[in-house]
Amino acid sequence: MQKLKDEIGHLLSPLVDLDPSEIVNLLETPPESEYGDYAFPCYVLAKKLKKAPPLIAADIAEKLSGEKGVFWSRVEPRGPYLNFYLDPAAYGREVLQQVWDQGGQYGHANLGLGRNVPIDYSSPNIAKPFGVGHIRSTVIGHSLYLIYRALGYNSIGINHLGDWGTQFGKLIVAYERWGEEEKLKADPVDYLYKLYVKFHQEADQDPELDDEARSWFKRLEGGAKEAVSYWSRFRRLSLENYALIYDLLGIEFEHYHGESHYNEMLDQVIELVKEKGIAKESEGALIVDLEPHGLPPVMLRKKDGATLYITRDLAAAIYRHDTFDFALSLYVVGAEQVLHFQQLFKILELMGFEWAKNCVHVPFGLIRFKEGRMSTRAGKIILLEEVLRRSIDMAREIIEEKNPDLADKESAAKAVGLGAVRFGDLSNDRIKNIEFDWEKVLDFSGETAAYIQYAHARICSILRKAGEEQKQWDDSAASLLVKEEETALIKTLAMLPDKIIASAENYRPSILARYLIEVAREFNRFYHNCPVLSSEGELQHGRLLLISATRQVIANGLALLGIVAPEEM
Ligand code: ARG
Repeated sequence: MQKLKDEIGHLLSPLVDLDPSEIVNLLETPPESEYGDYAFPCYVLAKKLKKAPPLIAADIAEKLSGEKGVFWSRVEPRGPYLNFYLDPAAYGREVLQQVWDQGGQYGHANLGLGRNVPIDYSSPNIAKPFGVGHIRSTVIGHSLYLIYRALGYNSIGINHLGDWGTQFGKLIVAYERWGEEEKLKADPVDYLYKLYVKFHQEADQDPELDDEARSWFKRLEGGAKEAVSYWSRFRRLSLENYALIYDLLGIEFEHYHGESHYNEMLDQVIELVKEKGIAKESEGALIVDLEPHGLPPVMLRKKDGATLYITRDLAAAIYRHDTFDFALSLYVVGAEQVLHFQQLFKILELMGFEWAKNCVHVPFGLIRFKEGRMSTRAGKIILLEEVLRRSIDMAREIIEEKNPDLADKESAAKAVGLGAVRFGDLSNDRIKNIEFDWEKVLDFSGETAAYIQYAHARICSILRKAGEEQKQWDDSAASLLVKEEETALIKTLAMLPDKIIASAENYRPSILARYLIEVAREFNRFYHNCPVLSSEGELQHGRLLLISATRQVIANGLALLGIVAPEEM
């Protein structure tokens, strides 16, 4: 809690000759609560005072002996640390009041001062289905979008659609040869995908197909009418399908600037790279040698004049800088593209763009269902839409069984089903590969969204049963919460603001996700040990304020993971 830290800062400042803010930054949280709630590390003073840290700690403690602050009740030296113990009543009241006053804004901050943060996420490839491999980018990217926005940045969601490249040549060939208008109309995305798979099967036997595809793509690049009309039709049909998924997930992008958006800028960008003298022509191709920087060379233009994925990314990066003047530019893209982004950012740096350092690749591991890695090439793919629908169906069954009388089962099933998929992803350290296991992600007592959502719904139900007058703020009721389980829960609630900041700074929504499991766990521990509705008078009122704050923290936290907190389930 900031006020307690500030209090310690001001208290120690004259004694240790440091600015209060310096002291606040040095404060640590002891690993065990028996060592206090905040610890000041005295070894930072050892040099200045020419004294052993434990002596310094003992000296300061001596000077403070018998004193007591607003939010702390005692201070003790332990080794090189000075440990502060909070005053549970004053601390509890303060934390609960903050949550109470700030409501839906609790945990939010204005660190960003409205500065822009474009976030490139989801970015599926047109005419290939929205595979489950893209789910990680979608879910992690959307959460970062929400988290940055909560911290006062202006998040800008960009869907860098894969809407350009040789796959369009392949699709056109396949459609010209085997395509059937009726089938395309009936289920465009599925059908385009089947054509794409068929193309690869056939091209294995007949390599000429690849030449044909290349030539179609060249025609597309040249703006040939027929090619462009195929392309824009395939693109439109795919976008219509993505829209269903984004709607289901409640995601909106500020921009659908796909790769094709940068086509007109490519010549200029290539000129610029040449001007900077970092590219060389090699047999008609244009190459940037990155060997001195320990990276493989990058081809920006092939000898037939075709540009590449990275050429478009180069244009996109510059465009984003010029358009948004960003504080940070995030790319939420799988770890298999680490090298791509290292090369991209290095080229930007070599071009003299000082802002290149604010471009960040946020990589993540693979997602596996038991059958192995999803691949669009081999034809074995699990569609995200299917995964989401299946999760909702399974959630519906569980709810049907657990709570047959629930009025709005459909909303609850949607919240739980979609929450399971999101949380199943977000609760893992993103860089690790994840194995998606239905049993696990929908386990109501596991480390799941449902576990947290259930705590939320349970609190809502208790609050419904409590009388209206018990829902008013009351200073003295809020000061009565001094039992160990109560204080532990309050301390956990106090961490939300820091957890949100840490999630943003590390680009890891998993920090927030793991924290919410902790909140639900502490709530359950409290609830098993401290009766709420069957306690009386002021204490009951105090406990109602505590669970109400808990509900708020869960709701605010889940919202930043893109997960709905149902009132009943
Ligand atoms: N469409 C690409 C893929 O599916 C991801 C694009 C990521 N964003 C970017 N600016 N390269 O692999």
